[in-house]
Amino acid sequence: LVRPQVIALDGPSAAGKGTLARRLASHYDLAHLDTGSLYRAVGRRILREGRDPKDATYAAETAANLQPVDLKDPELRSEATSQAASIVAAIPAVRANLLAWQREFAKAPPDGKQGVVLDGRDIGTVICPDADVKLFVTASPEARAERRFQELQAAGANPIRRAVLDEMASRDRRDSERATAPLLPADGAFVLDTSDLDADAVFDRVVAFIESKTRPRRA
Ligand code: CDP
Ligand code: CDP
Repeated sequence: LVRPQVIALDGPSAAGKGTLARRLASHYDLAHLDTGSLYRAVGRRILREGRDPKDATYAAETAANLQPVDLKDPELRSEATSQAASIVAAIPAVRANLLAWQREFAKAPPDGKQGVVLDGRDIGTVICPDADVKLFVTASPEARAERRFQELQAAGANPIRRAVLDEMASRDRRDSERATAPLLPADGAFVLDTSDLDADAVFDRVVAFIESKTRPRRA
């Protein structure tokens, strides 16, 4: 069996990272860490406390003191939290304070797993630069906004197409233009544009890529 030990998966919002990461984790029996949830948890706690996400000192402290319960906040996926997450994610000290935890997860996977898949923005570039497999999934802003729109509708919300696209563009811009760990494909990453691919097709192509590149490892 060919099984990678560390898969680094990056890409913009609604590129399909979470969907792909969960399938890869199940296929290769890996632990999965959605690193965006860490930034979301920091952003959400700051909003809940009525503080300003741009306050770098406070955001860094919040990241350093993040508690497991913060990762269970029901508002973690709200639009306000998404924007706050990308604001705190541009603060270098916030990133630094979340780094050790992510590396530790990759080094010592929970639940007796032999490997990990981490998804986010800087996994292949900063968190796990030695990953066996680096993937970068992307899609046009229109395709990604349409996916988010469909998700919101399916959840019973009444989204406005233009607003979904604008909010996504503002987060894309912040995540790509920040000085620290901007969204970028890692050197050697397999880059896949998923605009015209469904989740099954993406999974098949990525598995074919992994099989073509990984060699069986000695345990
Ligand atoms: O984690 P990320 O924000 O990158 O995306 P996601 O939450 O995994 O996927 C966003 C939405 O796109 C979900 O509703 C998926 O079912 C859908 N989708 C996908 O994941 N992959 C495709 N190739 C096409 C659609
Ligand atoms: O699901 P979606 O792709 O929309 O967002 P996410 O992966 O949950 O990430 C939320 C925000 O956290 C992003 O917009 C980034 O600003 C930040 N983030 C980051 O900077 N680095 C990561 N490794 C993961 C997320």
